[in-house]
Amino acid sequence: MRQAFPVENIVLDRRREQQLRKQLYKELRRLIESRLLPSGSALPSTRVLASDLRVGRNTVIAAYDQLALEGYISTSLGMRPTVSGLPSVDVSPHERARLGISELSVRGQFMSRLPFHHGRPGVMAFHPGLPDADNFPFNTWSKLITRRTKLARTELFGSYFITGYPPLCEAIARYLGASRGVICSPEQIVITNGAQSAFDILARCLTDPGDTVWMEEPGYYGASAALASSGARLMPLHVDDDGWSLEPPATSPRAIFVTPSCHHPLGLTMSMEQRLNLIRLAREWNAWIIEDDYDSEYRFQGQPIPALQGLAPDSRVIFVGTFAKILFPAMRLGYMVVPAALRDSFVAALSSTGQFGPLITQAALADFINEGHLTRHLRRMRRIYAERRSYFIGLFERQLGAWMELRHMDSGIQLVGRFRTQVDDRAIANAAQIQGINVSPLSLQYRNPTRQSGLLMGFAASDQKTTRRAMQRLALIVENALG
Ligand SMILES: Cc1ncc(COP(=O)(O)O)c(C=O)c1O
Repeated sequence: MRQAFPVENIVLDRRREQQLRKQLYKELRRLIESRLLPSGSALPSTRVLASDLRVGRNTVIAAYDQLALEGYISTSLGMRPTVSGLPSVDVSPHERARLGISELSVRGQFMSRLPFHHGRPGVMAFHPGLPDADNFPFNTWSKLITRRTKLARTELFGSYFITGYPPLCEAIARYLGASRGVICSPEQIVITNGAQSAFDILARCLTDPGDTVWMEEPGYYGASAALASSGARLMPLHVDDDGWSLEPPATSPRAIFVTPSCHHPLGLTMSMEQRLNLIRLAREWNAWIIEDDYDSEYRFQGQPIPALQGLAPDSRVIFVGTFAKILFPAMRLGYMVVPAALRDSFVAALSSTGQFGPLITQAALADFINEGHLTRHLRRMRRIYAERRSYFIGLFERQLGAWMELRHMDSGIQLVGRFRTQVDDRAIANAAQIQGINVSPLSLQYRNPTRQSGLLMGFAASDQKTTRRAMQRLALIVENALG
């Protein structure tokens, strides 16, 4: 189909001093360069364009002559002018073929090999740590977003409030004080694009390449990825069923990464004694503690213990939280609680890495918290998840208990099942993926060879019917793999 000539895109201003022929020439050149007039397309005849634009025919003739002179159009007698092909640099197949991973920096190549587990839209069954989409109050959320969008003319319009929208920082500081024993002022809250961007900023701002970071083993691969990408040397802080083994590493660390309220992936809670020991060790070394508190809102057994940050407020403990689990991951909002003296140092780091949060979403989230929707949502989801969790555990033990042992975690919205014999858990997770079951291999969480094989499984995003079907399929996959 022939494209209509975009005459409405030509703007001529008769009040300007510049001659109309010059203006028309520039407008046509702009349309050709921006490919709005593709090569080979025909321009209108001089008579038609002059009449459409209500200018003299000579004006059009002069503009066309100039374009022809510069090679933008070609003209031949009695024919309408056509747009010429614009020059471009030829890229040889050889050059194109070389554009592989090896052309990235050493860091880029390292990062391109880091393991991640994302999932696919619609494949919710057993996705670790994924909250339930069906029970999220999307109507309320969209009303709040719409309301804030309408108010975006002024303070939500530009790149302002780099460390976070003040009413949201206030709401988070209040919430953390009441629910997690975090002791901070709103000025200590720095909003990020999810916890992952906090890890990236902290890795870059707290450590230099070659510095040692004491990282949980097994531990969250997202945090290891951010720390290792910034050049840190990761030393294992071993965690097993007995807790965190605080046997100091050979080199004193610059930072320590822990998930004390719900260890990722094993789901343990760090005892008060270990917390105090860890703070003491960090103090001796002048090391930072990065405390990742990602899903402790959902606790199903055992007593919650206040955050490390609250045991040593305004010190070297940086508390990191996220809305990925209590609301949803794609919201991409998280935060860190930093020492008051350091808050302003993060403005440039957030700006240079572009990791400051979207303001309209932040404002809507502040309303969501302040108007009581978060508390109501959490109350409702705790009840739903508790039911889903016990249903999942019952089915799992009946159908997979012969091959796998389920760890009963204190909190969180995922569980770990360990194979009773050593197997290739990645192969099993891949086979499950093909059947629409999104489990993550436990070995992915280990960086060193002493791996345990198992599966990390979420129970929150699937209702009973989905859980029943997925469990049957998973049992068949495991049975086939293990005979
Ligand atoms: C241990 C841990 N920390 C943090 C996060 C949250 O990351 P984000 O807020 O970047 O989605 C996750 C997400 O899965 C996690 O498993």
